[in-house]
Amino acid sequence: MKSLVLLLVGLVAGALLATTMIGALSARDRYPKAVMVVMQANLAALQRGLRVQDCGLPTAGRHASQLAALAMEIEPAFAALERDSSDFVRSRELFQRAVGGLLREAPTDCAALNRSVTAIAQACDACHNGFR
Ligand code: HEC
Repeated sequence: MKSLVLLLVGLVAGALLATTMIGALSARDRYPKAVMVVMQANLAALQRGLRVQDCGLPTAGRHASQLAALAMEIEPAFAALERDSSDFVRSRELFQRAVGGLLREAPTDCAALNRSVTAIAQACDACHNGFR
């Protein structure tokens, strides 16, 4: 009887631990993807603005600062790649510089915004070519 109770306790504890671990692992897996998905949304919003020639001037600043904040999240989100690959670090730094360019010269016209957004999209692709 006592061993049966112990067995049950063990099973319940094991199941709880497994659930917690699966949750933690999938949360860890979702974080880097989430950073990317939100960056995609901000980039797409800027590109949409350019297509309709509205150049999103009122909201361009918001998307730019959101991209800049997320660019800072790449390092913690992809810690293993950051540690193991100097190419990844270089790609991330180039991307951050492209985003910095957009932030620094607040785009006042379509051509300037177009240049910055194109540079950012190219920096996304450059990293994806090697690491996605
Ligand atoms: C320094 C490297 C790097 C840069 C810069 C980068 N990405 Fe990524 N991206 C990755 C990696 C690595 C993955 C694969 C992540 C995974 O599968 O866990 C990825 C995946 C993605 C995904 C797929 C997410 C999913 O649901 O699986 C999207 C969308 C994405 N990136 C968009 C972007 C956009 C937009 C930019 C630029 C604004 C960008 N990325 C810049 C490295 C980068």
